[in-house]
Amino acid sequence: MIKKYIYGEPFPTGAAVKSIAASEDKLPFFESDNKGGFSYALSENDIVYGLGEQIRGINKRGWQYVSWNYDNPNHHEDTRSLYGSHNFIIVSGQQTFGAFFDYAGKMEFDIGYTKRSEMRITADKNDLIVYIITGENEKDIVKQFRQLIGRSYIPPFWAFGYGQSRWGYKNEQDIRTVAEQHKAAGIPLDSIYLDIDYMERYKDFTVDKERFPDLEKLAADMKEQGIHLVPIIDAGVKIEDGYDVYEEGVRENYFCKNAEGGDFVGAVWPGRVHFPDFLQPEARKWFGEKYSVLTKLGIEGFWNDMNEPAIFYTEDRLSDTCAEIEKLTSGNMGINEYFRFTGMVAGLNGNMGDYDKFYHNVDGKMIKHSEVHNLYGMNMTRSAFEALKEICPEKRTLFFSRSSYIGAHRYGGIWQGDNKSWWSHILQSMQQLPALNMAGFLFTGSDTGGFGCDTTEDLMLRWLQYSLFTPLFRNHSADGTRFQELYRFDNVSAAAEMIKIRYSLIPYLYSEFLKAALNDEMMFKPLAFEFPGDDMAKQTEDQLLLGNELMIAPVYKQNALGRYVYLPEEMMLIRMSAWDKYETQILPKGHHYVDVKLDELVFFIRSNKAIPFGKPTANTGEIDLSSLEMIGFPNSTYLLYSDNGYSTEPEESIKISALSK
Ligand code: GLC
Repeated sequence: MIKKYIYGEPFPTGAAVKSIAASEDKLPFFESDNKGGFSYALSENDIVYGLGEQIRGINKRGWQYVSWNYDNPNHHEDTRSLYGSHNFIIVSGQQTFGAFFDYAGKMEFDIGYTKRSEMRITADKNDLIVYIITGENEKDIVKQFRQLIGRSYIPPFWAFGYGQSRWGYKNEQDIRTVAEQHKAAGIPLDSIYLDIDYMERYKDFTVDKERFPDLEKLAADMKEQGIHLVPIIDAGVKIEDGYDVYEEGVRENYFCKNAEGGDFVGAVWPGRVHFPDFLQPEARKWFGEKYSVLTKLGIEGFWNDMNEPAIFYTEDRLSDTCAEIEKLTSGNMGINEYFRFTGMVAGLNGNMGDYDKFYHNVDGKMIKHSEVHNLYGMNMTRSAFEALKEICPEKRTLFFSRSSYIGAHRYGGIWQGDNKSWWSHILQSMQQLPALNMAGFLFTGSDTGGFGCDTTEDLMLRWLQYSLFTPLFRNHSADGTRFQELYRFDNVSAAAEMIKIRYSLIPYLYSEFLKAALNDEMMFKPLAFEFPGDDMAKQTEDQLLLGNELMIAPVYKQNALGRYVYLPEEMMLIRMSAWDKYETQILPKGHHYVDVKLDELVFFIRSNKAIPFGKPTANTGEIDLSSLEMIGFPNSTYLLYSDNGYSTEPEESIKISALSK
């Protein structure tokens, strides 16, 4: 059952799609202070799940989180905000219920941080909607919540293939080389991403003619090899005379305004930019239609970036900072002056104060950006999604975004933002998955191999052994870091085998994805969701159930040649050194130390279940569902969901086939 409680005058976020009458009774479970604060007394063994992309564990207890979409490529345990804000939690324990705090501005979730036995949730203003969901168990609560927020985005089938990306592919030849090298090394590939370097001076919807003289031909040549080009689109629009997007935006008042009514100026990659006012339906439509500049060249997928929005600096703050620095540096810089100096420079990027300085026009009313901050990225992807439905109604377009709020899951996927080539970020990504799924984000994954910092071959192999299970499977790295295309490493064949295994698993992964999307379920679940009475399952933070059949337990520590795994029931261990070379072993419920060599993939099949496994292909276009083998326990059956892979109404072509082992 879902109950809705309205406080003050909430801004309509667009998260919920089902209309529910507001309850008149007192808010259950929480004490509200009627100032935007909600407290809950945590019992010793309560677990708090959720908060989507937030850092730390699957169980969120013991930290304070801030919902404020924020560009933080250096995130670690100490971080409080990331790229997306997903204010849905499930308390599981003494009382089990879900709660969604639908609020577009800044919110704090103190989950046993200030006081171990108290959860305190605070919105900046007392203008929000709280939904309380009760049900049979956690899975039922998630299902009800997902029905409230609407069906998750389903990408085209090819989006399940492997993607190669790097900020720094500078020209057409770089892209052709990536395709050739993958082919030469026998590594399947479905997409190559175009980062900001394809644009002319970082201007959205332009192509640099010198470096990419014929993008249409390049896209067509790639497509012939089964490879899709996926360009990036950034939120900020460069201020440059003669640039149509800039000039139209100014003319039509489609950009966010400053307090004086002029177009607000921030700075991102191109230097000075204006930010489209994605909260205006007309601006959304206008910006969305611009994607056709690229679809006309044969592009079928996009990633939307810097849409928190990230602001490197604003001109006002920059000039104040420069003036202050001049003063500071004119005398002897002692410790205080030095810290002030470094603090001021570091404080230019993503400065909270800057988000108070611009406004959205919502039905003629000027709304301060900070009050609706967390909706910006979602509305950018909505703009693309809605326009592309009109422009290319016959097929699904791939979209994923960096920034998001609940509701954005209907328009596209998200990647988990900038990470690092750190071992800890494998685990971090894994712990985000179930919470993202609860909030509707099914098409997601991390920058495999790590975006910032230099990767290593062993880190890449271990990361592949995890990421090959995630719907979005993309190797992406930052300019200036060590190259990490798989063909660059010594043991290319080990990496190639991992990608081949991914392709063999795609029929299963896509099928489980469709089930999760169409039935409002999670694709990745904490163990305790299926084994609720099991205390060890409740504490397991580094294993996940994938669909109804698998359990994954990746190795995420350097130089480890195995790990402890907890089996909540008897399971079949699958050990693969190549897609066509695998061993199985049935292990009883309990703790096991499992050897996992660097070039091996190990995963588990649940008791009395089996999965379909295909033959790897060069790309998803060649996947043949008619020759699937079944791996797992004898006498088990599996319901394979498939569709034509492109229809915008997946139900139109959905096929369910019963396979048995
Ligand atoms: C941002 C994105 C990253 C991209 C870079 C350059 O940091 O998160 O993925 O490569 O910008 O566009």
